[in-house]
Amino acid sequence: MMILFNEDLVSRDEATIDIEDRGYQFGDGVYEVIRIYHGVFFELEAHLDRLERSASEIKIAFPFSREDLKANLEKLIEKEPVQSGHVYMQLTRGVAPRNHPFPEKADPVFVAYTKEYEKEPSRAPGRAVFTDDIRWLRCDIKSLNLLGNVLAKQFANDQNVEEAIFHRGEWITEGSSTNVFIVKNKTLYTHPANHLILNGITRRVVLSIAKDLGVKVKEEAFTKQDLLDSDEVFISSTTQEVRPIVVVDGVRISDGKEGEITASLHAKFAGRLS
Ligand code: PDD
Repeated sequence: MMILFNEDLVSRDEATIDIEDRGYQFGDGVYEVIRIYHGVFFELEAHLDRLERSASEIKIAFPFSREDLKANLEKLIEKEPVQSGHVYMQLTRGVAPRNHPFPEKADPVFVAYTKEYEKEPSRAPGRAVFTDDIRWLRCDIKSLNLLGNVLAKQFANDQNVEEAIFHRGEWITEGSSTNVFIVKNKTLYTHPANHLILNGITRRVVLSIAKDLGVKVKEEAFTKQDLLDSDEVFISSTTQEVRPIVVVDGVRISDGKEGEITASLHAKFAGRLS
């Protein structure tokens, strides 16, 4: 398997990550996951914008121009063609003797590799549980520090449900690896894109589709009770697309089936992919 290691295509075995890479020791880095449909990156520019923004927010100087990075990603996908899958990429602050402050000199380390899906991710109606949002206050940065998300997803797994939905006090923020939406009286609600959530690329596509369809949109926080009393709940992400959630904390949402607005948003989303 060939991977992109900084600017070079190398076999996976040839790529070595130093034990003092700050990504490894401190989670000091950022990442992206970009979906590939029919061999083409979906929303590439938006993902690269967000990767550059995340790097800049943690003060890593982005080591490549946009054009060079795109050219290298094209080379990668030529070498490792993918029909339906994704590319994962991460950028760390680099290698330096272990010490908390930024090293005076370290070259960022970049890695990207593709994955072909064996089967398409399920978008069958799913279930979720609520969990306390114990993460830091810069969830807008797509940081490698995912412990809060990992613990939440494991909490969901342990209960045999698909997602854990974070709340701060009564207020819903997002899912462990997804954004969360509700529909009430034909209005679509989702948490505003501030420091408490990741502004998902799929979230943005969903909001633009909703506007095209004439669905009223409110980027406003809502409570756990609002969610339980809503007509429809769904989650969105690069890998899950638009997925209905029909049971939360054991409570059935509305009639327990995928809602009409969710279905029409997904239909239009799927239409953009071909
Ligand atoms: N997760 N919120 C969180 C905490 C996420 O980790 C993700 C994505 C999203 C949705 O963002 P997007 O629509 O850009 O994928 C929201 C990725 C897919 C992951 O970590 O695997």
